[in-house]
Amino acid sequence: MNKLLNLQIINLPCCITTFITKKVIYAFKACLPVVFITIANTFLVCTTAIAHSNEISTNDLGAEFTRVIPSKDLKSGSTFISNDLKSIQNNDDLNPAFLWVLQGEALWSSVAGKSSPSCASCHGESNQAMRGVSTHYPQVDQESGELVNLEARINLCRVRHQHLDPLKLESDQMLGITAYVALASRGLPMNVRVDNQNMEHFLNGRSIYYKRQGQINLACTHCHEQNWGGKLRGETISQGHINDYPAYRLEWQHMGSLHRRLRACLSGVRAYMYPLGSKELLDLELFLGWRSSDPKIKVETPGVRR
Ligand code: HEC
Ligand code: HEC
Repeated sequence: MNKLLNLQIINLPCCITTFITKKVIYAFKACLPVVFITIANTFLVCTTAIAHSNEISTNDLGAEFTRVIPSKDLKSGSTFISNDLKSIQNNDDLNPAFLWVLQGEALWSSVAGKSSPSCASCHGESNQAMRGVSTHYPQVDQESGELVNLEARINLCRVRHQHLDPLKLESDQMLGITAYVALASRGLPMNVRVDNQNMEHFLNGRSIYYKRQGQINLACTHCHEQNWGGKLRGETISQGHINDYPAYRLEWQHMGSLHRRLRACLSGVRAYMYPLGSKELLDLELFLGWRSSDPKIKVETPGVRR
């Protein structure tokens, strides 16, 4: 936008001189872009508040691979919840998310059709076979070359190996099986790595993270990196890590995926809510996974939130 404005300032005097030398037609032609730019500018100024706007300069944030919050200050989201919620999250008998985990456990060993083996027929015990798996998602699937999160990875097995329909995102079955698989990694540190295969996704996720969005015109970083520990509508803003998802949220009276939580943040700043499972949310999830990856940030799925 600054570039457009400069262009306008440089072009304007030049336009006027051409008018004076009576090259009216030429001047008219020369002015056209200026008129267009002025209209476009006015339109842009009016809509910046609503539309996505400028990215924060990366110079302010250091190298692409430097985490803004230093390792020594990293804290899991559960650090910021009330003591009451903590005691619910830490007690599997009280944690309402276990209603979904139990459904996931049942699905793990259920045989869906005559020719469809169960997850357990191929993988065996989840707490052995799936130990550590959720710590390194999202990941690029070697067969399709696409970035998949844990939900999408489970659906690949449904379709490729069980010859069943994919589970609907946000369905009880999907939330249950994802939480059940992630539960096998409880206590292990997040371990999402960036490499040549996923670099493009990482950079896209990162740019979404630092882009001002919505009518409120805030980027993720403004809340989760610059104001963590602060209060917002009665909630303490965390550092926005992903180690507790899927999680049970009191406001939803339901379990929900990370993508649902991200859509709630986007809705909070009145920005476009990328669809569940969309490329944008997957890329963002990869970036979030990377910034959550530290020995101090351990998988605590299923979390409990306000
Ligand atoms: C206006 C402030 C604000 C903005 C901007 C914002 N969030 Fe949030 N976010 C919150 C609040 C408040 C919560 C709930 C408390 C918490 O866990 O931080 C939350 C929760 C989260 C959580 C869940 C953390 C947990 O442990 O449960 C994640 C992840 C997250 N946000 C990511 C994002 C991303 C990615 C963006 C940008 C697309 C974003 N947020 C933008 C305020 C914000
Ligand atoms: C017929 C055998 C088979 C069945 C049934 C099966 N899987 Fe898989 N699964 C695989 C194989 C093989 C892989 C390795 C990747 C590949 O080849 O697709 C895999 C990979 C995975 C991974 C990724 C592991 C990693 O280390 O990244 C997860 C998670 C997973 N399966 C979950 C499930 C779940 C949940 C079910 C049931 C809904 C299921 N699988 C059913 C064979 C199966």
